[in-house]
Amino acid sequence: MLKIDLRSDTVTRPSKGMLKAMFNSPVGDDVWGDDPTVIKLEELAAERFGTEKALFCVSGTQANQIALMSHLSPGDEVICHPYAHIYNYEGGGIAANAHASVTFTGDARGIMHPKGVLGCIKADDVHYPKSRVLALENTSNKGGGTCYELEEIEALRAVASKHRLTFHLDGARLFNALVAKNQNESDYGTAFDSISICLSKGLGAPVGSVLLGSEEFIHHSRRVRKRIGGGWRQAGLLAGAAIYALENNVDRLAEDHTAAKEMAEFLGQQSWVKNVVAPETNILIFGLSEDMNQEKFIGTLATKGIGISQMGPEKCRMVFHLDVTAADLLEVKSVLAVL
Ligand SMILES: Cc1ncc(COP(=O)(O)O)c(C=O)c1O
Repeated sequence: MLKIDLRSDTVTRPSKGMLKAMFNSPVGDDVWGDDPTVIKLEELAAERFGTEKALFCVSGTQANQIALMSHLSPGDEVICHPYAHIYNYEGGGIAANAHASVTFTGDARGIMHPKGVLGCIKADDVHYPKSRVLALENTSNKGGGTCYELEEIEALRAVASKHRLTFHLDGARLFNALVAKNQNESDYGTAFDSISICLSKGLGAPVGSVLLGSEEFIHHSRRVRKRIGGGWRQAGLLAGAAIYALENNVDRLAEDHTAAKEMAEFLGQQSWVKNVVAPETNILIFGLSEDMNQEKFIGTLATKGIGISQMGPEKCRMVFHLDVTAADLLEVKSVLAVL
């Protein structure tokens, strides 16, 4: 049993306040379109981002895959980063669900740049897949919680518009980026054709993501969600948690970013740490020196009640979230100090 769980920010438990909000949420039947709390959440999210509509979904994966199924036809191609969650960690969904192919560009921090994207766009020729979607991830999970400047997004938007690419954002941790960079939701709503945001990561809800976009896109996405069995009935209980998360747990994300920075500083002083990716938000990625075995290191920590994860070779990952206390951080440091 893990006492301190830094494997992901998905592990948070609903707080007392959130549970109370859930129990007090009026419910209806969302497939019939009359669950008042789901309607309230979708209106709140759309209003904040300045999009026409929103759709409450089970998970980030479901929201991303619905968006891709809505945007793509068989034989189309998605341009994304080689670290992208939509490609690496959604069960082959782009191929299985949307029958589309993928091409990659981006830097070691998980960030994509206009020049690389331009190099991925295929000529309109029967030999090639049809370049159709440009998909960003902000923050980049495998990149180490890195985030985009608004100017970078605007430059990518310009490329997408010029080449008629649909611009999708996997914003599973978009609120971390908004807090870290002091940006506004509405800038994102304007820039992207579709955005998925997760309520069940750093914001602390047990379940749920919201997909944002135009009325036409969300209308179609609602059909796709139903088709894949994602129509849910008294979902208002979960929408109640999501509304509570949006109203109470956004500003405090800054505390998780500070915790990641402090741990990065500490790790940087340890002889057995080879490199630390400077954290921008709540994800901290580091590599171990050659004489340390990554699997064994993670296993040893687990025996001491501390959970961390890995995202490939030389990529140990700690994720900071609202269930990690100051005392937990001290304990992790004291365990690591005597390794
Ligand atoms: C960047 C990113 N996108 C999407 C997801 C998928 O979210 P879910 O686990 O809710 O399917 C995750 C999950 O960790 C993620 O990190």
